[in-house]
Formats: sequence, C-alpha cells, structure tokens
Amino acid sequence: MDLPWAMATVAKPAVANGCLIKLLNFNPISHAMTFLYCMTPNFYQDNISYHDCAEESYHLWGTSWMMQFGDVPTGGYFWRPAYINHGAFASELGCIALGRVDSKLFNHFHYNPWSTPIENQDRSGARLYQRDPLLYKWAVSKDHNHPHGPEDFEQTLPKRGAKFDHEAAKVSDGKEHSHWHGHHHEHEHPHDHEHHHHD
Ligand SMILES: [Fe+2]
Repeated sequence: MDLPWAMATVAKPAVANGCLIKLLNFNPISHAMTFLYCMTPNFYQDNISYHDCAEESYHLWGTSWMMQFGDVPTGGYFWRPAYINHGAFASELGCIALGRVDSKLFNHFHYNPWSTPIENQDRSGARLYQRDPLLYKWAVSKDHNHPHGPEDFEQTLPKRGAKFDHEAAKVSDGKEHSHWHGHHHEHEHPHDHEHHHHD
C-alpha cells in the first residue's frame, strides 16, 4: 500500500502516459515481474504491442478495452502467449489490475494489425540481431539442440557437495557439455542407458 504509483519505466519503450504501476516482484535473473497497474480515466494508447514473454492479467476493478479482444471487465482475466498482437488500448473510467510476465517485458510497438505471431517473432529476432549481433551469431552458430541450462553458469551456483558429472555431460553429439549434478545421482549402473536431465 505504501508503494507510490510510478511511471511504467520497467518496460521499454514505454507505454502511453496514464498507465502506472506498482512493481511488487522483479526477478533479476529472468526479469519476470508481478505488478499492479492502473489506467487513468480516458487512458488511450493507439499503437499495437507484442512481447517476447507471456503476459497475464486479472482486473481488480474497472474495464479496459483492447482492439482485438474487446472489453476486459472487473473480474476479467487473460493469459496471452508471446508475439500475439494486442492494442490499441483504452479505458473510459480507468481500471486497476494485477499483471504478471514470465520473462523480460519488451514492448515491440507497431501499427500493422495483420502481422502474424511468426512475423512478430521474426521481427523480434531481427531486432536482437541489430541490438546484440555477437550474442545472436553465437546463439545461432552453435550446433546445439538446446541452450546450456543456467545451472552451468554463475546465476545458479552448484549445490554444496555437487560433483561434475563427465559421463552425464556427454550427449549425442559426442561433445562434453558442462554439467553439474546438484541432485542425488548414483552411477552404479552401466552407462549405455539414456539419461534424463532437468533442463
Ligand atoms: Fe502487453
């Protein structure tokens, strides 16, 4: 209750003036967020949004309107996968809602209501290429069928007593991938079986 309503600067580029948030939880690793947001009376945003994250909302009070989906009333809820166009937005009397996103919220804005989720995804990939070209090239040039899990890096340190598992690290391409086992894992059995790992 003590948090002030603040400009929604956590998402870039910013939404229109008149949409304010109270940031309740921010995960510094994934950038997932839980937040209250409100729209002031007569809020209006004329462009169309999509994101690289899923988004969900529960309307605590008031009605807001989205061009594609119509009115979300008090008690209304939506869950929206990534890359789905939403907006323009409007709210005549204003509204208060609880919102969540499961990773970084970047506002891809545009004015083409006919773009498909695949086209939106491609456009986002093109933006990543322009913004982080080395990261993009590295990610697509590796012949891995999966990214390394965050447990391989500093974000999640190996649990106390974890052992580096060279056998389990060997995957079908014959190369050794970094792999820590934090969980209990016996190797009394022969090694020609399939391993199932937590990603
Ligand atoms: Fe959105």
